[in-house]
Amino acid sequence: MNSLVSSKDLGRHTIELLLQNAQAYADKNQIGENHGTVVNLFFENSTRTDLSFQMAAQRLGMRTLNFDVAHSSTSKGESLLDTLETLEALGVDVVIIRHQIDWPTALAGHKFNLGLINAGSGSFEHPTQALLDALTMRQHFGNLRGLRVTIAGDIRHSRVARSNLHILTELGAHVQFAGPDDFRPADLPEVPWVDFDQAIKETNVLMMLRVQYERHAQSTDVATYHQQYGLTVERLDRLRKDALIMHPGPVNRGVEICTEAMEDPRSQILKQVSNGVEVRMAVLDWCLQGGKHGKLVSA
Ligand code: CP
Repeated sequence: MNSLVSSKDLGRHTIELLLQNAQAYADKNQIGENHGTVVNLFFENSTRTDLSFQMAAQRLGMRTLNFDVAHSSTSKGESLLDTLETLEALGVDVVIIRHQIDWPTALAGHKFNLGLINAGSGSFEHPTQALLDALTMRQHFGNLRGLRVTIAGDIRHSRVARSNLHILTELGAHVQFAGPDDFRPADLPEVPWVDFDQAIKETNVLMMLRVQYERHAQSTDVATYHQQYGLTVERLDRLRKDALIMHPGPVNRGVEICTEAMEDPRSQILKQVSNGVEVRMAVLDWCLQGGKHGKLVSA
């Protein structure tokens, strides 16, 4: 069984394979043929990732087990490790985990006879989000080589930014960050930190990030933030006519992005959501294939 716990698990070849398979699912050239059992183990809230993994599993013909963390034995103190060993003993094939901690590091060294997929780990990783973002860009531009991608906003707390940095760079894009200095990530000094208003005029893709209030010690003045670092109506006018607007969601409307930008023809926000289903189908199938990748899933 394969696991996908970090974007860095994926080299260019495997990324290309997953995107190719996701596109085949989107084109309806492939049907699901798997019969494994999958569990979503979400310790943080989610709409898109949770539901799209469930939809992906169903479209693949997999069984999905409902796991309500609040009503599970984790609420009695059962550890993540013990929970996973329990699911393994029950015969579960794949567990999809979202947690506020860096759970892959916490579990490092433990061997499981099931596949693990990272659906979000603290501020560290969200690899399937980066894959669906890459698929969305690829559908529009054909390929990502030489593309300038500006990721703007709360980078410091963003697992989306970290996973995208690896996946997009592997595919040949130039990733740069912009935002308030308070949100500049100390662990990524090698990534260009650019002036937001300059980037708006030049970038091929502008990916706005949610201000993650739940991970902040101090409150943010949202009106000031919107004027200084938000995609406002005025900045929307200065964005390249052929640029894409992206946002992983959920969105704080009127904070990092205005409603007009979300509804602009350049916005890919809902396309990102729908691409999430096919990308997660490809990832689930890849996990079940156990590394025998190198061909189309059902070819
Ligand atoms: N982008 C994303 O992870 O959204 P959810 O929190 O709704 O899953």
